[in-house]
Amino acid sequence: MKSFQGSTALVTGASKGLGVAYATELARRGANLVLVARSRDALEDLAVRLREAHGVEVAVIPADLGAADGPAHVVAGLDERGIAIDLLLNNAGLGSVGPFFDRPLAGHLLSVDVNVNGLLALTHLLGGRMLTRGSGGIVNVASTAAFQPMPYQSSYAASKAFVLSFSEALAAELRGSGVTVMAAHPGAVATGFFDGTTATIDPRAADTPERVAARTLDDFARGRHVSYPGRVVNRVGTLVPRLLPRRTTTSLVGRLNRGLGFDHVSDVGTPA
Ligand SMILES: NC(=O)c1ccc[n+]([C@@H]2O[C@H](COP(=O)([O-])OP(=O)(O)OC[C@H]3O[C@@H](n4cnc5c(N)ncnc54)[C@H](OP(=O)(O)O)[C@@H]3O)[C@@H](O)[C@H]2O)c1
Repeated sequence: MKSFQGSTALVTGASKGLGVAYATELARRGANLVLVARSRDALEDLAVRLREAHGVEVAVIPADLGAADGPAHVVAGLDERGIAIDLLLNNAGLGSVGPFFDRPLAGHLLSVDVNVNGLLALTHLLGGRMLTRGSGGIVNVASTAAFQPMPYQSSYAASKAFVLSFSEALAAELRGSGVTVMAAHPGAVATGFFDGTTATIDPRAADTPERVAARTLDDFARGRHVSYPGRVVNRVGTLVPRLLPRRTTTSLVGRLNRGLGFDHVSDVGTPA
């Protein structure tokens, strides 16, 4: 079992939701942290709390990972501070929900920019340094959405399918190099993922971010290449698309998402 004590982890999307839980759990396990997201104030607040509660070092690098120069800006921030990263936790992510043509193009593009391009670029920039050093770890937060096409979440599910495929291939390429790669596939997690829209996450069907974070890190520490950090039914659900014809699976998921009202989503004011 690997230990996080004294290592340095960079967590993207650490301003809210699952990213806060990952950063908090890593700090609890003794890791120093670099927190990345766009919301500087939220990152600074979390940094103060984690330093006080756990006595770890916490640096904050605000960055837009959807911007072409975002990942390089993060690396420049690390170099200015002389920080080397042992664990890259690519958690930042977002997704459009609703019928593809009803939702603004900008939202679809932003999710691909962050979930795919930002993740790939940070992995290349920081993973390359790990490879040179011969040690390090990368955790990519994908989703159970990665395993099948999802009507009404079409671009989001496709972006997570990229993360799944990319992570599995990279894990195989890096076998024996000292750098490990793990993809994590949560199901529904009780966060503000759908904030700003009429879509909601049913808390009865969702795991807590704290539980998902702890289980992800346990799986990584055990040397796993894949983690299903949520309830068992989520993992079972990822097996279904491997058994049924893709068209059947896609129709079923479309029906499920219509049942959740995802076929008529509109924007609402962001909660205070
Ligand atoms: N919630 C779920 O049900 C669920 C299920 C499976 C997988 N996931 C995955 O888990 C990860 C975390 O999601 P969450 O539920 O915690 O969502 P969330 O509460 O909406 O948090 C998303 C995080 O991503 C950051 N982010 C968004 N756009 C960014 C950008 N352009 N540059 C830098 N950071 C950006 C946000 O920070 P700023 O806004 O401050 O930039 C925020 O910290 C995502 O990859 C998501 O796909 C979530």
